[in-house]
Amino acid sequence: MGKGSGYGKVILFGEHFVVHGVPGIVSAIDSSTDAEVKKAAKGINVKDERKTAKGYSEEKRLQQLESIERMLKAMGIDPKIALDIWIGGTLPGFSGLGASAASSVAIARAIAQELGMKISDEKINQVAYEGEKAYAGNPSGIDNTAATYGGLMWFRKNMGGGQDLVERLAIESPVEIVIGSTGKVANTKAMVEGVDERKRKNPQKYNAIFKRAEELAYEGRAALEFYNLKKVGELMNENHRLLQEIEVSSKELDLLVDVAQKQGAIGAKLTGGGGGGCMVALTPGKELQDKVVSAFKTAGYDFLATKIGVGTQY
Ligand code: PMV
Repeated sequence: MGKGSGYGKVILFGEHFVVHGVPGIVSAIDSSTDAEVKKAAKGINVKDERKTAKGYSEEKRLQQLESIERMLKAMGIDPKIALDIWIGGTLPGFSGLGASAASSVAIARAIAQELGMKISDEKINQVAYEGEKAYAGNPSGIDNTAATYGGLMWFRKNMGGGQDLVERLAIESPVEIVIGSTGKVANTKAMVEGVDERKRKNPQKYNAIFKRAEELAYEGRAALEFYNLKKVGELMNENHRLLQEIEVSSKELDLLVDVAQKQGAIGAKLTGGGGGGCMVALTPGKELQDKVVSAFKTAGYDFLATKIGVGTQY
């Protein structure tokens, strides 16, 4: 049997903007998707045992099968191969946490191991990127990169089709966050296409927003590297407002952002594709993290309390 894992992630700065070549900052989180693969008698049989938002697995099933087919092709494997694939692990199937990319990385690694193929992380990342196309249409590559390598990263898509810019960032020590889930399954592909369409229709408005998003990424990077968490939080709040302006937030995401800020979170924004899915609150210290967790519990929302920047200290 072949085994593999992929990290979940939160985007701290720049989702959606990264698809268009603006830099973004992503942190892997302390939860991963695991996969086990075994050669089978017939077909591709997926047993998905992840904890998910209601309807997540059903909604994603067709994209998941397409994703596996794309990865087999990218790995040069006969598409008629029969495999039993199990997916589980600690990363919940909530939209926005890079769960699709984490599962693609986990599955690609497990298939490679089962078939005795020696594959570098770089190749796994490329294969998972091909898999991500089934879920995200025109993905930036930020999710599969975080899922493959983990850590905290600066990411800029190469719009010419060449190698993306990926730089590891280091911070003084990991910081507590709370991820709040709206419970709504979101379609990243549709959200990305929506932004693209509105951007083409309103170039002036969108160019100004994209310019500010780029500045925010640079300011966010400096604030993280100086460990000025208050500043990081302020910039995250501003990033959320930009995401509202490009119409990817939702009533529930805004509500969770508001609840977290009222409890003292120093920054809060949607994370990932939006339109449902998840938000992230920056809550340094266990006490503040617990406060936000109990407010989410009271409001009846699912959450994940974890840290960013694990394993990235100087
Ligand atoms: O919703 P997720 O976890 O798939 O994140 C999508 C991030 C986007 O920037 C919206 C798309 C992309 O490919 O970068």
